[in-house]
Amino acid sequence: MAAAGLDIRGVPISGRREREQTAGILAPRTCRGHHKKCTHAANLHREKALKAVQFAGYGGPEVLKVVDIEEPHARAGQIRIAVRAAGVNAFDWKIRSGALAAVMPIDFPAGVGMDASGVVDEVGDGVEGVAVGDAVFGTAATGATAQYAVLAEWAKKPESLSFEEAAGYPMSTETACRALNLPPLEPGQTLLVNGAAGGVGLAAVQFALAGGATVIGTASEGNHEYLRSLGAIPTTYGPGLVGRVRELAPHGVDVAFDAVGSGILPELIELTGSAGKVITIADSRAAEYGVRFTGGQGPGHAPEARAEAAALFEQGKFRLPVAETFSLENVAAAQAKSEQGHVLGKYIVTVN
Ligand SMILES: NC(=O)c1ccc[n+]([C@@H]2O[C@H](COP(=O)([O-])OP(=O)(O)OC[C@H]3O[C@@H](n4cnc5c(N)ncnc54)[C@H](OP(=O)(O)O)[C@@H]3O)[C@@H](O)[C@H]2O)c1
Repeated sequence: MAAAGLDIRGVPISGRREREQTAGILAPRTCRGHHKKCTHAANLHREKALKAVQFAGYGGPEVLKVVDIEEPHARAGQIRIAVRAAGVNAFDWKIRSGALAAVMPIDFPAGVGMDASGVVDEVGDGVEGVAVGDAVFGTAATGATAQYAVLAEWAKKPESLSFEEAAGYPMSTETACRALNLPPLEPGQTLLVNGAAGGVGLAAVQFALAGGATVIGTASEGNHEYLRSLGAIPTTYGPGLVGRVRELAPHGVDVAFDAVGSGILPELIELTGSAGKVITIADSRAAEYGVRFTGGQGPGHAPEARAEAAALFEQGKFRLPVAETFSLENVAAAQAKSEQGHVLGKYIVTVN
């Protein structure tokens, strides 16, 4: 389910504050005068302080603090959830460190995190198909790493999917789905995923396998068995990749997806035979090679990916394993681990 016109990753919205708030990187601002319009749980009509992780300036993980903030509220097209778990993404520490300051400046204090799961407790104007009490997961319009978060996009959480695992789905699934739509991958074709054991990589592997593709994925040796268990063909990254992949795919690679940005676009072009068959989400030199880079604000936004992942989970065809959980007070440690760049699945922050 997506809130039309409020999407953080491609649908135009007006005003810098709203753009940034929708990207989950601003301190939540109370939605004035909305109370008559929202469907609140009866006991939530009064304003209250709640705990959220914020940072007041760029820096290392130590700038992250648990603070009391005013509760955020769902605007038109949004829902609010009592957060049960929040996902950790590389995007979070790139924002926190200031690495994205030139392209995505933020106001301080800023909230943390894009991905959350929880139970709906407010439904904004114009929202259909979801009600107070529903369990959902989705992309936050306010910082996700908090006791309450406002979501701009969401999907229903299957009952058998844990809140912790669901919290890892939103960004990884949307990004993987968006990347796999450009260039298109047909059933029976061979996909190479660079960084197959990370959040986005694992989502791409499983979407492509479910779509009938053969998938070769690069990962460090320790993650090969897991990739094999999904049905992918693992290989190590690093020198000699072209030769290793050619042995595994004697008929060639149809599409290559770089989910790491480790500087291997020339090898991926060599393997596919064309820059047009390579897509990256993380290599800033893409344009130099004529390779398409897809970013969160770009075309091809795929909010449907979350519901698709939920449906595949129910069919036993999709998992993003929870590598480790952290408390709200330990978000700094979660981001520090994410920054090391070798997670299998997702780091998750548990809330409440
Ligand atoms: N453009 C967008 O829309 C968009 C959206 C989301 C994320 N991103 C970016 O995409 C990247 C991946 O995100 P993520 O959430 O999937 O990260 P992640 O969950 O932290 O995964 C990182 C993965 O990279 C692998 N890896 C590390 N060094 C590698 C190398 N030299 N070659 C190949 N694989 C290597 C690791 O595998 P091993 O453990 O097996 O070494 C690990 O599984 C980040 O840079 C993130 O900022 C971009």
